[in-house]
Amino acid sequence: MDEYITIALPKGKLFDKSVRLLAKVGYSAENVTEDSRKLVISNEETKVRFIIAKTVDVPTYVEYGAADIGIIGKDVLLEQDKDVVELLDLGFGRCRLMMAVPEAKRRAKLTDYAHLRVATKYPNCAKAYFNKLGIQTEIVKLNGSIELGPIVGLSEMIVDIVETGRTLKENKLAEVDSIFTATARLIANRASFKLKFARLHKLVEDLRIVLNEEDK
Ligand code: PRP
Repeated sequence: MDEYITIALPKGKLFDKSVRLLAKVGYSAENVTEDSRKLVISNEETKVRFIIAKTVDVPTYVEYGAADIGIIGKDVLLEQDKDVVELLDLGFGRCRLMMAVPEAKRRAKLTDYAHLRVATKYPNCAKAYFNKLGIQTEIVKLNGSIELGPIVGLSEMIVDIVETGRTLKENKLAEVDSIFTATARLIANRASFKLKFARLHKLVEDLRIVLNEEDK
């Protein structure tokens, strides 16, 4: 049996906090850095293996069992609807999925945005949101720099993640409606959760203790 626990870590905003948090419960390895050329880093002593992955790919590694567990934003989980077990809300990486428009193009009510084009990295969440409101829109999927959409006339509005609000401000976009709030989650592969239950259960309990301490 594979006695290692393999952890998929997302590059980007959640990376540093994920590494720091896991180190506090004894899950660490030398040179786990975001810009590491080595994409798999193991610690033979503690039997931990880290996979450094692109954020959107973390749930895929976990779903297929290439990683036993992973850390990923709830926003990505809601968008992808992967078959993974959500073990713990880690609390950090708090952000909102936001509907936003150029400040000069704000309209009186949400239904006034019907039949417009929306640029987003979250087409499924955006579709569900507009459907629920009964608003027809055309959704254009982008992979980054979503705020560029309205600036270059690709779309009239955007649905994107807002953390500090700086990006919206710098691009003269106004918040219209918050769709949901998301934080980082610890997820597990279904089979790993059963086969490595004792170790994963202990990890979750240890993380809970550390997070409670940090909250105080
Ligand atoms: C995210 C998001 C916004 C920005 C929001 O992008 O898509 O662009 O962060 O953060 P803020 O409210 O603190 O300014 P990310 O940095 O992940 O890169 P991307 O635009 O290439 O997706």
